[in-house]
Amino acid sequence: SKNIVVAIDGYSSCGKSTLAKALAKKLHYIYVDSGAMYRAVALYFLRNNIDTKNSEQIEEALKNIHLNFHSRDYETHITLNDEEVSEEIRQMPVSEKVSEVSALKAVRREMVKQQQRMGKSKSIVMDGRDIGTAVFPNADLKIFMTADPAVRAKRRYDEIHPKNPDVTLAEIYENIAHRDYQDTTRAESPLVRAHDAIILDNTDLTPEQQLKFALDRVEGLH
Ligand code: C5P
Repeated sequence: SKNIVVAIDGYSSCGKSTLAKALAKKLHYIYVDSGAMYRAVALYFLRNNIDTKNSEQIEEALKNIHLNFHSRDYETHITLNDEEVSEEIRQMPVSEKVSEVSALKAVRREMVKQQQRMGKSKSIVMDGRDIGTAVFPNADLKIFMTADPAVRAKRRYDEIHPKNPDVTLAEIYENIAHRDYQDTTRAESPLVRAHDAIILDNTDLTPEQQLKFALDRVEGLH
């Protein structure tokens, strides 16, 4: 049977990775969190003071960045030059920098190339912003996720707050709104629903209901 590619795109903190992970686990597909790659690149830019207006610095940085996923389970384990950065890329400094870095043409070109390679030989679920439009325009199934922004902020807050007691709900709401704005208005493959993507608004849906929604669509492919 042929490899199946499932593309899950949508706004920030919509539960894309929760659904993508559950789906991949259930179907025994590979799961790739493309956002983690942009976050790791942003972390490198922050640590090395890369000037996002300097194309030579950007090219040089991209040559020196080596990302790897380690899929021991269906959680995202990513290394940046062999250092485990899975925790650090979720912190606010990276969240605040990532949309600026992901808007860079050279960065996107390199990440998309690596992502396409990952989908070559195995069935895969990948989540992000441009998976159904730029990375896998021929994906077998495309889901575009949305949810009420206040609900998204609260979910993200509940996830982050236990580990970061200083973070506020307002700050998270701001960051989500800001990233949505930057991601949808950037020139280079902006966040947009692919014409053939199915919309999933999960404001009032449990993770189980969302998984069932996606599984039913995958079933429909056979
Ligand atoms: O998915 P996550 O929220 O972790 O992604 C972080 C950021 O990475 C997004 O706000 C967006 O700027 C960028 N991104 C992207 N294209 C993707 C995945 C993420 O531009 N495919």
